[in-house]
Amino acid sequence: MTYDLIVIGGGPGGYTAAERAGGAGLFVLLAEKRALGGVCLNEGCIPSKTFLNSAKIADHAKNGNAYGVIAQGVKLDHPAVVKRKNRVVKKLVAGLDMKMKKNNVTVVNGEAVISGRTEEGFRVNINGSAYTGKRLLIATGSVPVIPPIPGLDESYEKGIAVTNREILDIETTPENLVIIGGGIIGLEMASYFNSAGSRVTVVEMLDHIAGPTDREISGILLNNYKKKGIDFRLSAKVIEIKGNEVIFESSDGIQRVTGDKILVSVGRKPDTKGLGLETIGVETDGRRIITDEFLRTNIPEVYAAGDVNGISMLAHTAYREAEAVVNNILGKRDRMRYFAIPSVIYTNPEVASVGETAESAQEKGLDVEIIKLPLSYSGRYVAETDRGDGIVKVLVDKQYRTILGLHIIGNYASEIIYGAAVMMETEMRVDDIREIVFPHPTVGEVIREAMFEA
Ligand code: NAI
Repeated sequence: MTYDLIVIGGGPGGYTAAERAGGAGLFVLLAEKRALGGVCLNEGCIPSKTFLNSAKIADHAKNGNAYGVIAQGVKLDHPAVVKRKNRVVKKLVAGLDMKMKKNNVTVVNGEAVISGRTEEGFRVNINGSAYTGKRLLIATGSVPVIPPIPGLDESYEKGIAVTNREILDIETTPENLVIIGGGIIGLEMASYFNSAGSRVTVVEMLDHIAGPTDREISGILLNNYKKKGIDFRLSAKVIEIKGNEVIFESSDGIQRVTGDKILVSVGRKPDTKGLGLETIGVETDGRRIITDEFLRTNIPEVYAAGDVNGISMLAHTAYREAEAVVNNILGKRDRMRYFAIPSVIYTNPEVASVGETAESAQEKGLDVEIIKLPLSYSGRYVAETDRGDGIVKVLVDKQYRTILGLHIIGNYASEIIYGAAVMMETEMRVDDIREIVFPHPTVGEVIREAMFEA
């Protein structure tokens, strides 16, 4: 029995490809070693959003007085938050399971290892059984980067140092939480545990948080969280972990912070370990599987989508890449475009971005006009947010008058940003956007308003 497609990895890339390919009538096998839904559904995007939503409800209640809402003794019941998270994840995994059945996808639970190629196709071993597929899609995702910090392994073994996986299941909120890495995971978890009452310290190597986010926007986020009491140690190099203690060096010399938990969130790396790529000669650059714009590897009939190709390590990129893979398999040429992929940090306030930042535009020498408006241009924002400092920042190409980048800090940003991605994908010009009617009152209206400032 030969499958038309064997998909390795059941995360957003893998399950989407399996669903689409199965739906198109291909004979598909999907291998998953942990749980259907992958990191995103089981220990990433979705669980963290259940946490952050509870935090947002608590924050709203705590700050209710200014809005005429009196609530007393508000606090987060962490075990209940974790329980709810588990229910949400279970429900969504069950939904995926049904989707696979509906699309005639054979799901095999176990670790898949590629073992070579025969006349019939690629050989894959799972739990001691051999399967053959005419094509392979590698969608094995990524794993956390564990930096070579002396003492980290010991601290991890003792259950003090944790990654994004373990932090979502801790039973009580730590009194003191130290987070190494002020990127997306670090900030989202800092946000939750700050709301839950932990004293949070973020130790970040760079002189700013939120990585490649537009610097002005990440500065506003930093100020918001400093006000909420998070202690940021920037330009700080961690040199050692001694049990509960994180020792780091910054311009102020050698310092120490203590946490009952230490979250390590310094990035993720493509997961190709033990996959048997060498048995068929799939090319990597030592870190990621190399793919072209059709998601093909150097071996015809072997594709790689999602974090494992290391291009844009986001679940929504994986969805689209998976669809491109299936279209290409079906003979519908589908080229992946990466220039308008939005990214969101679900802090409170939220940050959402698409395209070039002021910094990347300058680095590339792009001729841009930058328009910046406070979100207080939106009636709804003012009606709902006291003392809000949200902004929208738009980069317009001076020659063609199209949008090259758009960044928002403020709540609802996550739900607005796709509009900006659409504007970029369809190469709308400033004048075209001015003619679109936006609903009023909404926060998104500031985008239209910004077009009149351009
Ligand atoms: P990240 O790349 O976002 O941030 C890592 C941070 O750690 C960077 O600021 C980096 O400068 C810092 N760092 C690196 N080494 C360090 C060291 N030794 N000491 C101190 N700081 C150090 O990575 P993160 O937060 O782990 O997230 C991993 C991936 O998960 C990202 O690719 C992200 O795209 C994805 N993700 C996406 C989310 C979303 O879309 N909302 C949510 C969570 C994760």
